[in-house]
Amino acid sequence: MERIIVWYLRMSVTYFVLGVVFGVVMLLQPGETGYYLPVHVHLNLLGFMPMMIYGVGYHILPRFSGRNIYSPLLMRIQFWLGNAGLIGMAISWPFVRGATNVSLFDAVLIASAFFSLVSIVFFAINILKTIKSI
Ligand code: HEM
Ligand code: HEM
Repeated sequence: MERIIVWYLRMSVTYFVLGVVFGVVMLLQPGETGYYLPVHVHLNLLGFMPMMIYGVGYHILPRFSGRNIYSPLLMRIQFWLGNAGLIGMAISWPFVRGATNVSLFDAVLIASAFFSLVSIVFFAINILKTIKSI
């Protein structure tokens, strides 16, 4: 299995563990839920689940279609953008939720959200081009 694919899977399970830790923290500290809910939700639903799907998809779909991955470079760029985006969102979100006015963290959150979005578009392009011949 390609190294970058192994890293997609490693990051997926890391986000899973972190995501449920935030879930348990919210149960133990219900007063803090407002700060941590989007972090919990996106570590699980933008981290754990998609990273697992990216890793498994990049490993299996080229084999199903008998083709190589359309762009291994795009797959690598997507990895860094997606992880930087999610980590940036997870770190800045509680600060944005806690702030009373626009702060540096708003800019970090918006930039990170944009990175996440671009990484998803890169995945869509790469996987559609890879399976084109099915
Ligand atoms: C040990 C495991 C988990 C615990 C203890 C936990 C705990 C929580 C808590 C306390 C909330 C906030 C509920 C509220 O007061 O509004 C929540 C919301 C949520 N959790 Fe989890 N969670 C866990 C795992 C997961 C997983 C694995 C996922 C997704 C794959 C997930 C998805 C969500 C979503 C989408 C919400 C938001 C629901 C809404 O919009 O109201 N959770 N979770
Ligand atoms: C580029 C990627 C994404 C961005 C920028 C994004 C952004 C946001 C924002 C701004 C909110 C509102 C948070 C608030 O109430 O302050 C939100 C909520 C939510 N998002 Fe996302 N999202 C993304 C991807 C996803 C994905 C892939 C899923 C699920 C598969 C998802 C599930 C949810 C859910 C369930 C909520 C409601 C959480 C709650 O109860 O407060 N998001 N998202």
